[in-house]
Amino acid sequence: MATFLDIIIEYSKQVTELGRFLYELLSEALNLNPNHLNDIGCADGLGLLYHYYPPCPEPELTLGAKTHTDIDFLTVLLQDHIGGLQVLYDNQWVEVPPVPGALLVSNDKFKSGLHRVLASRAGPRVSVACFFTTGLIPSLKRYGPIEELLSDDNPPKYRETTVREYSMHYNAKKDHETSGLLDFLV
Ligand code: OGA
Ligand code: NI
Repeated sequence: MATFLDIIIEYSKQVTELGRFLYELLSEALNLNPNHLNDIGCADGLGLLYHYYPPCPEPELTLGAKTHTDIDFLTVLLQDHIGGLQVLYDNQWVEVPPVPGALLVSNDKFKSGLHRVLASRAGPRVSVACFFTTGLIPSLKRYGPIEELLSDDNPPKYRETTVREYSMHYNAKKDHETSGLLDFLV
């Protein structure tokens, strides 16, 4: 019988392949060399978070996961059938209903990225979040607007930073009700 460790090692391998493929598609969609986002290290590190949300007797008094943005480049989320995940879109909380067999791909660098998980009487709810990031040792490599995409009509919106500086800023924030990226606007 496969142990939990066997399963997560296999899952990590497969999700890494998926992540690298998604970065190829994103690079192509941006008219860049398909390897661009992989080459700058966007899939070098993978963090996995396993969530177990026990059934809650008084869900109106609390949340499963409070409002936050993820700090990584790209998140691939596997959720079970219980539901409760919501994203903030145009100032409204919108349900992200679970779809059997589907993975959810999200990124707070495209839109506000704020999300939360409601508590529920049903459950337990289990989810697996995979965070693509740079290597585990935060490097001093600088990340910023992609030069190939900049023009007079499309000037940089954010200043350059390092993963180390961005993580320190994220961790020092008292709450995550706004994306940390907003503090890096030019
Ligand atoms: C997270 C997260 C959502 C979920 O781990 O950052 O938002 O459905 N998880 O558990
Ligand atoms: Ni999250």
